[in-house]
Parts: sequence; C-alpha cells; structure tokens
Amino acid sequence: MLWFNQEHRLQHASDGLLVTACDSDGVHRVLAIGDYHSVRPHYPDLTPTHWPGHWIAPGFVDLHIHYPQTDVIGSPAEGLLPWLTQYTFVHEAKFADAHHAHEVAEFFLDELLSHGVTTALTFATSHPASVTALFEAAQKRRLRLITGKVLQDRHSPDGVRDETEQSLIDTETLLQRWHGVDRLGYAITPRFAPSCSEAQLRGAGELAAKYPSTWIQSHVAENLDEVQWVRELFPQARSYLSVYDNFGLLRQRAVYAHCIYFDETDRTLMQRTGAAAAVSPTSNLFLGSGFFDFAAAQSSHMRHGLASDVGGGTSFSPFHTMLAAYTVGREGQTKPGLSLSPEQLWWQHTSGAAQALGLEGQVGNLLPGCEADFVVLDPQATPLLARRCAQAHNLSELLFAWIVLGDDRVIAHTVVQGQVVASKTQP
Ligand code: GUN
Ligand code: FE
Repeated sequence: MLWFNQEHRLQHASDGLLVTACDSDGVHRVLAIGDYHSVRPHYPDLTPTHWPGHWIAPGFVDLHIHYPQTDVIGSPAEGLLPWLTQYTFVHEAKFADAHHAHEVAEFFLDELLSHGVTTALTFATSHPASVTALFEAAQKRRLRLITGKVLQDRHSPDGVRDETEQSLIDTETLLQRWHGVDRLGYAITPRFAPSCSEAQLRGAGELAAKYPSTWIQSHVAENLDEVQWVRELFPQARSYLSVYDNFGLLRQRAVYAHCIYFDETDRTLMQRTGAAAAVSPTSNLFLGSGFFDFAAAQSSHMRHGLASDVGGGTSFSPFHTMLAAYTVGREGQTKPGLSLSPEQLWWQHTSGAAQALGLEGQVGNLLPGCEADFVVLDPQATPLLARRCAQAHNLSELLFAWIVLGDDRVIAHTVVQGQVVASKTQP
C-alpha cells in the first residue's frame, strides 16, 4: 500500500489495510489507512477485500489532456503549429456532432480508468455539446473530472472557431449548469493566447473573477514559433505568460500546460499567483517542443505536476509520462540536468497534481478524508516486470521498475468511489 503523508513523503505498508465508507454527502472517503494489524482491530465488523501480492496506491491525476484528441495520438508534424492545423483542428471540428462527442467521451473515460487515471483536467472543444457529452459520461461514472468549452475566436479555421460574445455566454451557461455538481468542475478554457482575441481573453478573465472556485486551463510557452507569434500579437506584453496575467487569468486553480520558455520573472509570477504548470513530457518530446526545467521550477517553488497532453502526448499511461519526465529532467544540454526520484515523479502525478488543482486532501492521496479513488497494482504484470521487481532492494527501486517498465497492464484494478470500474482480471 502506498500513500503520502502531510509532508509529502511516500509511506508504505507491505501488509496494509485501507478502510473506506460513504459519507452523509454520498461521497466515498478514506476512513483509515496503515498496517493491517494496527488498523484491523478498530474495524472488527469489516469484511475486507484481499488483493494478495498487489499494491494499493492513489489513483493518478492527469493535469492536462484533450479528450477530443483521443484519435489524434501519433500524428507526426513539423512542430506544434503545423500539427494543430493539419490534424488537431480537423478532428476537433467533428465534435459539432453530439453523437460523436458522446462516443469519444465514453471511450476516453474507459482509457483513463484502465490506465489508472481517476481524475483529469481536460480540454473539450469549442462546441458546447462536447462539454455536455463529457460531463454526462463522467457524472454517470461518479468521477471527479474538470473540463470546459474551448475559447478560440481567431486564427482558427471554420468548424472550430467560435464567436466572441456567444463563446462567453456559452461558457457561463455551462459553468452554471455543471460546476460543483456531484464531483464535476468547470474550467474556463482559452485555448492559447494566439487563438483568442483581447475581448475574449478579457471576458474569460471576468468570468474567472466572478466564479473564483472554477478552474482556468490554457497553454503557454510550449514552442519557439508559438512564443514568437505571441510576441508579434501582443507587442506590449513583457512575456507570453504576462499576457494571461494582464487579463486576470493567473490565480489559484489556473493550470497552464508546458511552461518551457519561461524566465525567472515568469516563474516568480506563477509562484506568486498560485497558478500551476502541467508538465507534459511525452508531448514535448513527440512534437519536439523543448524540455521543461524541473530544477528551476523547484527552486522558484512554482507549482507543477504531470500531464499526458494526449493527443500531442503519446500515451494515456502515467508510467509512460513519469518515465518521460525523468528523461526530460535528465536532459542537460538546454538547462541543468536533474535526476527526479521515483517518489517525486509519483507525487507529481498524484498528490502533487492534486495540489496544483487545489484539490490536495481530496484526490491523489489516501490519507483519511481523501475521496476513495485508487488503483491496485500488479508487480507480476509482465515477465520482465516480475523479474525486475523481484530484484528490487527497496521501495525506490521497485517504484523505478514500475515507472520504466509499467503501462496499463500493471493496473490490475481501478476503484472509483468504492466500486471497481476497470479490471485486467476478476476482482
Ligand atoms: N496549443 C494550443 N492548442 C494546443 C493543443 O491542442 N495541444 C498542444 N499541445 N498545444 C496547444
Ligand atoms: Fe494541450
């Protein structure tokens, strides 16, 4: 059993017991976690489920993903901007059709859960029906999930471009309908500064101030051509990040994907405002965008956590993302190389990602009071993993073996709100 203590240190029990129960508000939460022999006597009436040889761990939290890009994975291009026009906008235009949106939403949630991801902050498309489709699918499954209608009223083709005033009306309507319903949350979602007029960014900032418990999600400083484009579009702005600041879009619960081409002033601004970076290493490697500077992020105390960024990202698997984050951390030609520990990587994809969302103590961990969303890991999932895990001398080595060799086969079961929702084998 794995979890993090209040100081973010990884804890484990080799023979553990996790006790969960449904609260009066209908949410399943953790009552107790720890060594079986110390917890068991407090709950004599329990009938425990046994998973011998397996490990229980917090469900993973994906800080940035695009559900409408499920079918875009593995589309190669000459960098971000050609990739957007050649593939992404073409696929996203299909979400004008609510039937298509519903079908992809269900498939997407199946993928998240079979990979052990129990909470995601995800883009929809500019079509309001794409948001409704995903919220309905997530509500049915009792998931904690955050999404929002993409705002993009310029530099976008017909089929995905929206209209400034209507886009803000649609955002407020969807937000009022869904934000805080069950475990769902709304994210105000300007795609990125080049695709939003000043009026649209201003409107987004006004909504963010009017509804402070909503999230904000966008992209920033991902690619050099994009950074140059923003410089031309917003010549007065000190930096790309400061464009968002100027429109009131940096605050707690604001999550910005990538954050690669930052200087110290940008990192300080992130830290000061409580905004968080969604580090998306498989996407950055696939699109050739660049390398996130983990050392600088740590020393500036800017919040950051891990994300798949599917479909720029190449995998739904948190193991693949953690491995790519390790590789990007090691990269030492464009920035100082840093060896992230397996405990740090794991934290950044669970409790650390939850902290970035302002949901620490709710998801991404299994301390008492946390919502009961967890995974059951199988260290014998493949012959190579079994062999490597058997030779691990300590917990760090075991975690590293999972990170390097793991994928969805390691996720034996995913449990959401006390129910097994995905299984490789019979629970
Ligand atoms: N910047 C603007 N839109 C996108 C997107 O869909 N994916 C990525 N990776 N970057 C973006
Ligand atoms: Fe993205």
